[in-house]
Amino acid sequence: MSGESSLPCHVAIIMDGNGRWARQRGLSRLEGHRAGAKNVRRVVNAFADHGVKYLTLFAFSTENWSRPQKEVEGLLGLLSESIDKETQFFHRANIKLRHVGEVDRLPLELQRKVKAAIELTKDNTGMILCLAFDYGSRSEIVDAVRCIKEGNVSTGDINEAMFSGYLGTQGIPDPDLVIRTGGEMRLSNFLLWQAAYSELYFTPVLWPDFSEKEIDKALLDYRQRQRRFGSL
Ligand code: IPE
Ligand code: IPE
Ligand code: MG
Repeated sequence: MSGESSLPCHVAIIMDGNGRWARQRGLSRLEGHRAGAKNVRRVVNAFADHGVKYLTLFAFSTENWSRPQKEVEGLLGLLSESIDKETQFFHRANIKLRHVGEVDRLPLELQRKVKAAIELTKDNTGMILCLAFDYGSRSEIVDAVRCIKEGNVSTGDINEAMFSGYLGTQGIPDPDLVIRTGGEMRLSNFLLWQAAYSELYFTPVLWPDFSEKEIDKALLDYRQRQRRFGSL
Protein backbone atom coordinates (compact mmCIF):
# COMPACT_ATOMS: atom_id res chain seq x y z
CA MET A 1 0.00 0.00 0.00
CA SER A 2 1.36 3.43 -0.83
CA GLY A 3 0.29 6.87 -1.92
CA GLU A 4 -0.78 10.28 -0.74
CA SER A 5 -2.22 10.48 2.72
CA SER A 6 -4.99 12.99 3.23
CA LEU A 7 -6.84 13.03 6.53
CA PRO A 8 -5.64 10.60 9.21
CA CYS A 9 -8.36 8.22 10.32
CA HIS A 10 -6.79 7.83 13.77
CA VAL A 11 -4.74 10.50 15.55
CA ALA A 12 -3.03 9.66 18.85
CA ILE A 13 -1.54 12.38 21.04
CA ILE A 14 1.05 12.33 23.81
CA MET A 15 -0.16 15.35 25.77
CA ASP A 16 3.16 16.47 27.25
CA GLY A 17 4.45 19.75 28.65
CA ASN A 18 1.98 20.75 31.37
CA GLY A 19 4.68 21.00 34.04
CA ARG A 20 6.91 23.26 31.93
CA TRP A 21 3.92 25.39 30.94
CA ALA A 22 3.23 25.99 34.65
CA ARG A 23 6.87 26.62 35.53
CA GLN A 24 7.15 29.29 32.83
CA ARG A 25 4.30 31.10 34.57
CA GLY A 26 5.47 30.59 38.14
CA LEU A 27 2.49 28.29 38.79
CA SER A 28 2.33 24.89 40.48
CA ARG A 29 2.58 21.75 38.33
CA LEU A 30 -1.02 21.00 39.18
CA GLU A 31 -2.08 24.34 37.68
CA GLY A 32 -0.32 23.19 34.52
CA HIS A 33 -2.28 19.94 34.54
CA ARG A 34 -5.47 21.92 35.07
CA ALA A 35 -4.70 24.05 32.00
CA GLY A 36 -3.90 20.85 30.11
CA ALA A 37 -7.21 19.26 31.09
CA LYS A 38 -9.00 22.39 29.94
CA ASN A 39 -7.34 22.15 26.53
CA VAL A 40 -8.80 18.69 25.89
CA ARG A 41 -12.22 20.04 24.86
CA ARG A 42 -10.73 22.46 22.32
CA VAL A 43 -8.60 19.74 20.75
CA VAL A 44 -11.40 17.15 20.68
CA ASN A 45 -13.70 19.68 19.00
CA ALA A 46 -11.10 20.59 16.41
CA PHE A 47 -10.35 16.99 15.41
CA ALA A 48 -14.06 16.14 15.34
CA ASP A 49 -14.64 19.16 13.05
CA HIS A 50 -11.89 17.95 10.75
CA GLY A 51 -13.70 14.61 10.51
CA VAL A 52 -11.08 12.47 12.26
CA LYS A 53 -12.79 9.23 13.25
CA TYR A 54 -10.57 8.11 16.15
CA LEU A 55 -8.68 10.26 18.63
CA THR A 56 -6.54 8.70 21.37
CA LEU A 57 -5.22 10.90 24.16
CA PHE A 58 -2.37 9.78 26.43
CA ALA A 59 -3.19 11.31 29.79
CA PHE A 60 -1.36 9.16 32.35
CA SER A 61 1.22 6.43 31.84
CA THR A 62 1.90 3.37 33.99
CA GLU A 63 5.24 5.07 34.77
CA ASN A 64 3.54 8.27 35.95
CA TRP A 65 2.61 6.48 39.22
CA SER A 66 6.23 7.12 40.22
CA ARG A 67 5.64 10.88 40.46
CA PRO A 68 5.22 12.47 43.90
CA GLN A 69 2.03 11.26 45.57
CA LYS A 70 0.54 14.75 45.64
CA GLU A 71 0.90 15.13 41.88
CA VAL A 72 -0.58 11.66 41.25
CA GLU A 73 -3.53 12.49 43.50
CA GLY A 74 -3.97 15.80 41.68
CA LEU A 75 -4.00 14.05 38.30
CA LEU A 76 -6.53 11.46 39.48
CA GLY A 77 -8.68 14.27 40.86
CA LEU A 78 -8.49 16.13 37.56
CA LEU A 79 -9.54 13.05 35.63
CA SER A 80 -12.50 12.67 37.91
CA GLU A 81 -13.45 16.36 37.51
CA SER A 82 -13.01 16.19 33.75
CA ILE A 83 -15.34 13.20 33.47
CA ASP A 84 -17.95 15.13 35.48
CA LYS A 85 -17.53 18.24 33.34
CA GLU A 86 -17.02 16.81 29.88
CA THR A 87 -19.08 13.62 29.61
CA GLN A 88 -22.39 15.37 28.84
CA PHE A 89 -20.63 17.61 26.35
CA PHE A 90 -19.06 14.61 24.57
CA HIS A 91 -22.39 12.81 24.63
CA ARG A 92 -24.19 15.74 23.00
CA ALA A 93 -21.44 15.87 20.36
CA ASN A 94 -22.25 12.19 19.53
CA ILE A 95 -18.76 11.14 20.71
CA LYS A 96 -18.19 7.59 21.90
CA LEU A 97 -15.77 7.22 24.79
CA ARG A 98 -13.31 4.39 25.31
CA HIS A 99 -10.54 3.75 27.77
CA VAL A 100 -7.24 1.94 27.29
CA GLY A 101 -5.02 0.96 30.17
CA GLU A 102 -5.58 -0.58 33.57
CA VAL A 103 -8.80 0.36 35.24
CA ASP A 104 -8.61 -1.58 38.51
CA ARG A 105 -5.71 0.42 39.97
CA LEU A 106 -7.81 3.59 39.93
CA PRO A 107 -9.83 4.59 43.02
CA LEU A 108 -13.21 2.79 43.01
CA GLU A 109 -15.26 5.95 42.56
CA LEU A 110 -13.17 6.89 39.52
CA GLN A 111 -13.52 3.38 38.05
CA ARG A 112 -17.27 3.76 38.40
CA LYS A 113 -17.22 7.15 36.64
CA VAL A 114 -15.09 5.89 33.75
CA LYS A 115 -17.40 2.91 33.23
CA ALA A 116 -20.52 5.09 33.44
CA ALA A 117 -19.17 7.53 30.83
CA ILE A 118 -18.36 4.65 28.47
CA GLU A 119 -21.79 3.12 29.02
CA LEU A 120 -23.60 6.44 28.45
CA THR A 121 -21.88 7.08 25.11
CA LYS A 122 -21.68 3.50 23.83
CA ASP A 123 -24.28 3.91 21.06
CA ASN A 124 -22.93 7.23 19.77
CA THR A 125 -21.88 7.20 16.14
CA GLY A 126 -19.52 10.18 15.89
CA MET A 127 -15.84 10.35 16.78
CA ILE A 128 -14.39 7.64 19.01
CA LEU A 129 -12.40 9.25 21.79
CA CYS A 130 -10.06 6.85 23.49
CA LEU A 131 -8.54 7.93 26.77
CA ALA A 132 -5.22 6.28 27.62
CA PHE A 133 -5.07 6.50 31.39
CA ASP A 134 -2.83 4.23 33.45
CA TYR A 135 -1.70 2.99 30.05
CA GLY A 136 1.66 1.43 29.19
CA SER A 137 2.34 -0.34 25.95
CA ARG A 138 4.70 -2.98 27.31
CA SER A 139 2.30 -4.08 30.01
CA GLU A 140 -0.52 -4.12 27.42
CA ILE A 141 1.59 -6.49 25.28
CA VAL A 142 2.50 -8.71 28.25
CA ASP A 143 -1.19 -8.88 29.24
CA ALA A 144 -2.05 -9.98 25.71
CA VAL A 145 0.53 -12.78 25.89
CA ARG A 146 -0.85 -13.87 29.26
CA CYS A 147 -4.39 -13.96 27.87
CA ILE A 148 -3.36 -15.95 24.82
CA LYS A 149 -1.54 -18.46 27.03
CA GLU A 150 -4.44 -18.78 29.47
CA GLY A 151 -6.82 -19.27 26.54
CA ASN A 152 -4.72 -22.23 25.35
CA VAL A 153 -4.56 -20.82 21.84
CA SER A 154 -2.65 -23.18 19.56
CA THR A 155 0.60 -21.73 18.25
CA GLY A 156 -0.56 -22.08 14.63
CA ASP A 157 -3.40 -19.67 15.34
CA ILE A 158 -1.12 -16.91 16.61
CA ASN A 159 -0.61 -14.14 14.07
CA GLU A 160 -0.38 -10.34 13.97
CA ALA A 161 -4.06 -9.69 13.33
CA MET A 162 -5.24 -11.96 16.15
CA PHE A 163 -2.59 -10.55 18.48
CA SER A 164 -3.89 -7.01 17.86
CA GLY A 165 -7.27 -8.27 19.01
CA TYR A 166 -5.84 -9.03 22.45
CA LEU A 167 -4.61 -5.48 23.00
CA GLY A 168 -6.58 -2.77 24.79
CA THR A 169 -7.01 -1.01 21.44
CA GLN A 170 -8.90 -4.00 20.03
CA GLY A 171 -11.13 -2.90 17.14
CA ILE A 172 -9.43 0.48 16.76
CA PRO A 173 -7.30 0.89 13.61
CA ASP A 174 -3.60 1.64 14.15
CA PRO A 175 -2.89 5.37 14.49
CA ASP A 176 -2.01 7.08 11.21
CA LEU A 177 -0.51 10.02 13.04
CA VAL A 178 1.10 10.21 16.48
CA ILE A 179 1.59 13.74 17.79
CA ARG A 180 3.75 14.59 20.79
CA THR A 181 3.64 18.07 22.25
CA GLY A 182 6.25 19.46 24.65
CA GLY A 183 9.36 18.94 22.54
CA GLU A 184 10.55 15.47 23.60
CA MET A 185 11.13 13.09 20.72
CA ARG A 186 10.23 9.74 22.19
CA LEU A 187 7.21 7.47 22.57
CA SER A 188 7.44 6.98 26.36
CA ASN A 189 5.79 3.52 26.19
CA PHE A 190 2.84 4.69 24.08
CA LEU A 191 1.27 2.38 21.46
CA LEU A 192 4.53 0.59 20.64
CA TRP A 193 2.83 -2.17 18.67
CA GLN A 194 0.15 -0.01 17.09
CA ALA A 195 2.49 2.80 15.96
CA ALA A 196 4.71 0.50 13.87
CA TYR A 197 3.87 2.48 10.73
CA SER A 198 2.46 5.70 12.16
CA GLU A 199 3.68 9.06 10.98
CA LEU A 200 5.30 10.87 13.92
CA TYR A 201 4.92 14.59 14.53
CA PHE A 202 6.84 16.31 17.31
CA THR A 203 6.19 19.91 18.27
CA PRO A 204 7.83 22.06 20.94
CA VAL A 205 4.43 23.62 21.70
CA LEU A 206 3.41 22.74 25.26
CA TRP A 207 0.14 20.84 25.62
CA PRO A 208 -1.97 23.66 27.16
CA ASP A 209 -0.99 25.84 24.15
CA PHE A 210 -1.77 23.21 21.52
CA SER A 211 -4.46 25.14 19.62
CA GLU A 212 -6.56 24.79 16.47
CA LYS A 213 -3.78 26.55 14.55
CA GLU A 214 -1.22 24.01 15.77
CA ILE A 215 -3.58 21.18 14.82
CA ASP A 216 -3.90 22.59 11.30
CA LYS A 217 -0.09 22.67 11.09
CA ALA A 218 0.17 19.03 12.16
CA LEU A 219 -2.50 17.93 9.67
CA LEU A 220 -0.84 19.88 6.87
CA ASP A 221 2.49 18.25 7.71
CA TYR A 222 0.79 14.85 7.64
CA ARG A 223 -0.70 15.52 4.19
CA GLN A 224 2.80 16.05 2.85
CA ARG A 225 4.09 12.68 4.05
CA GLN A 226 4.33 9.77 1.72
CA ARG A 227 3.45 6.52 3.43
CA ARG A 228 5.08 3.49 1.92
CA PHE A 229 4.65 0.69 4.47
CA GLY A 230 7.86 -0.87 3.24
CA SER A 231 6.68 -0.91 -0.35
CA LEU A 232 7.70 1.47 -3.16
C1 IPE B 1 2.11 15.75 30.75
O1 IPE B 1 2.77 16.82 31.31
C2 IPE B 1 1.08 15.17 31.69
C3 IPE B 1 1.46 13.88 32.25
C4 IPE B 1 2.51 13.19 31.96
C5 IPE B 1 0.58 13.32 33.25
P1 IPE B 1 4.06 16.68 32.22
O2 IPE B 1 3.62 16.69 33.64
O3 IPE B 1 4.88 15.51 31.85
O4 IPE B 1 4.81 18.03 31.86
P2 IPE B 1 6.37 18.27 31.76
O5 IPE B 1 6.90 17.25 30.79
O6 IPE B 1 6.92 18.10 33.14
O7 IPE B 1 6.47 19.66 31.25
C1 IPE C 1 4.38 10.85 28.62
O1 IPE C 1 4.88 11.98 29.23
C2 IPE C 1 3.09 10.44 29.25
C3 IPE C 1 1.97 11.33 29.05
C4 IPE C 1 1.95 12.44 28.38
C5 IPE C 1 0.74 10.91 29.66
P1 IPE C 1 6.01 11.90 30.36
O2 IPE C 1 6.30 13.29 30.75
O3 IPE C 1 5.58 10.96 31.43
O4 IPE C 1 7.21 11.24 29.56
P2 IPE C 1 8.77 11.24 29.85
O5 IPE C 1 8.94 10.87 31.30
O6 IPE C 1 9.28 12.62 29.57
O7 IPE C 1 9.33 10.23 28.91
MG1 MG D 1 6.47 15.27 30.59
